[in-house]
Amino acid sequence: MRKLLFISFVLSLSAAAVHGEDGAYIGVNIGTAMSSVPAPTQITTLLRSQNIRHVRLYDADPAMLAALSNTGIRVIVSVPNEQLLAIGNSNATAANWVARNVAAHFPAVNITAIAVGSEVLSAQPSAAPLLMPAMRYLQNALVAAALDRYIKVSTPHSSSIILDSFPPSQAFFNRSLDGVLVPMLRFLQSTGSPLMLNVYPYYDYMRSNGVIPLDYALFRPLPPNKEAVDANTLLHYTNVFDAVVDAAYFAMAYLNVTNVPVMVTETGWPHKGDSSSEPDATSDNADTYNSNLIRHVMNSTGTPKHPGVAVPTYVYELYDEDTRPGSTSEKYWGLFDMNGVPAYTLHLTGSGVLLANDTTNQTYCVAREGADPKMLQAALDWACGPGKVDCSVLMQGQPCYDPDTVDAHATYAFNAYYHGMGMGSGTCYFSGVAVVTTTDPSKITHAYHHLTLAICACIVGSMTGCLGCFFLQVTDLVFMLGRTGRR
Ligand SMILES: *[C@@H]1O[C@H](CO)[C@@H](O)[C@H](O)[C@H]1NC(C)=O
Ligand SMILES: *[C@@H]1O[C@H](CO)[C@@H](O)[C@H](O)[C@H]1NC(C)=O
Ligand SMILES: *[C@@H]1O[C@H](CO)[C@@H](O)[C@H](O)[C@H]1NC(C)=O
Ligand SMILES: *[C@@H]1O[C@H](CO)[C@@H](O)[C@H](O)[C@H]1NC(C)=O
Ligand SMILES: *[C@@H]1O[C@H](CO)[C@@H](O)[C@H](O)[C@H]1NC(C)=O
Ligand SMILES: *[C@@H]1O[C@H](CO)[C@@H](O)[C@H](O)[C@H]1NC(C)=O
Ligand SMILES: *[C@@H]1O[C@H](CO)[C@@H](O)[C@H](O)[C@H]1NC(C)=O
Repeated sequence: MRKLLFISFVLSLSAAAVHGEDGAYIGVNIGTAMSSVPAPTQITTLLRSQNIRHVRLYDADPAMLAALSNTGIRVIVSVPNEQLLAIGNSNATAANWVARNVAAHFPAVNITAIAVGSEVLSAQPSAAPLLMPAMRYLQNALVAAALDRYIKVSTPHSSSIILDSFPPSQAFFNRSLDGVLVPMLRFLQSTGSPLMLNVYPYYDYMRSNGVIPLDYALFRPLPPNKEAVDANTLLHYTNVFDAVVDAAYFAMAYLNVTNVPVMVTETGWPHKGDSSSEPDATSDNADTYNSNLIRHVMNSTGTPKHPGVAVPTYVYELYDEDTRPGSTSEKYWGLFDMNGVPAYTLHLTGSGVLLANDTTNQTYCVAREGADPKMLQAALDWACGPGKVDCSVLMQGQPCYDPDTVDAHATYAFNAYYHGMGMGSGTCYFSGVAVVTTTDPSKITHAYHHLTLAICACIVGSMTGCLGCFFLQVTDLVFMLGRTGRR
């Protein structure tokens, strides 16, 4: 990770531990609402191959923590909202939670913060009175275990608790939350902890009914006359992300708190959605948002109010979560699918090594030409069994069933496994029946051979996926039929 300028004296932020020695950084959230959750070691292999050094978990799963131990990866663990009641009511329960989920793993697992609940004030207001007691009890337990120096306690907020956020200088927290927020800010101040904020320009844009230009949400350059200028401060805003982060700084200042740093615990853009109601959930927009976001954060540009001050930011999210309820786009915020295949190609030139290599320079693992079918079948069985590849698309009636050949199915499974393992060396071998190739098999459009095309239909690792290739197959089939005069 690059060392970047952190002008702490400008702000006298008391949060050296938050920004740490590495100032700006990008982390990722790891949600697991998936029909087939990758094994923890597969997850850490992917993280390492992509140079991801910071993650946030939505719980404190012991198997995941075990896999993260001695990796050097910094980890935020979370208290799920369902556990707030117990912890907010009993300091003994809080102490027990810290003993089991934090102290037992630290320092092998570099736990840097406990996120207490998720968007509690907006999503579960009935639990709001328990939030401060829970945070205090957890803090007390950390102090008792002498871990408070390393581990911060905070709680991620929805940006919806900030009202009137444009112009940012007029922003304030929903006043009916003062009873919780005023003591909370004092707590964050006294413990040197960040204000955790979830920032979703996608939703701000969607809900603005055209008031917020898409380019402004996506960090795209705006003509100077379209830039948002805060009339009170004369600060120029070139993107929604900065405006929301500054709104949080101004809302805190309104309550006389000026030395609590903002950490963005979630932000991102969905790469797929319902085509009529969510037309801007596309891979292009997701690539644009996340690539620009990562460049922006890693450059330590800061925000107009606090230029040069790093805003640690966690991208939402590592994997698509196919079992999340809600609109179609809810399932497609991931940088990767559950096999570890990039959902789309990020364009990160100039932002360091993070996520840079494997998502832009792609290789594929395919069945070796002329390999022994029995050995191929055995390798296929292994990949779909102990290898944990989701081979359901290969079943009869599913999009990748045809052609029903061992070569085609093995290529699908090998490639899925290879990408799931972060394309690590030795992960495309399968007793010698697999080979690495740099040619995206789904792009071999000049091959008229039905078999090749059908394999192409199911190669993972391209954005087209199975459905996209289905069209390819049909067009070429039509082409074939046309050529042979059998239409
Ligand atoms: C990524 O690329 C950089 C620079 O080309 C190289 O130093 C680094 O080892 C690569 N990382 C991986 C995981 O391949
Ligand atoms: C819990 O709180 C009580 C009273 O405030 C105190 O006596 C006790 O030591 C605390 N227990 C723990 C585990 O912190
Ligand atoms: C854990 O992370 C913190 C914050 O980034 C860092 O200062 C510390 O050196 C890390 N500890 C280990 C053992 O890697
Ligand atoms: C402010 O918070 C209260 C309590 O959670 C909520 O009922 C109200 O709708 C919020 N106001 C706005 C404008 O969001
Ligand atoms: C903030 O400071 C001003 C001026 O000192 C004071 O009037 C106001 O009550 C303070 N507000 C809070 C929430 O502490
Ligand atoms: C990075 O920061 C420098 C100096 O602040 C600025 O000139 C440059 O435009 C920034 N680059 C990006 C991609 O934001
Ligand atoms: C991808 O490969 C090309 C050609 O080998 C190289 O020029 C480029 O720097 C690579 N990109 C990354 C991000 O490693």
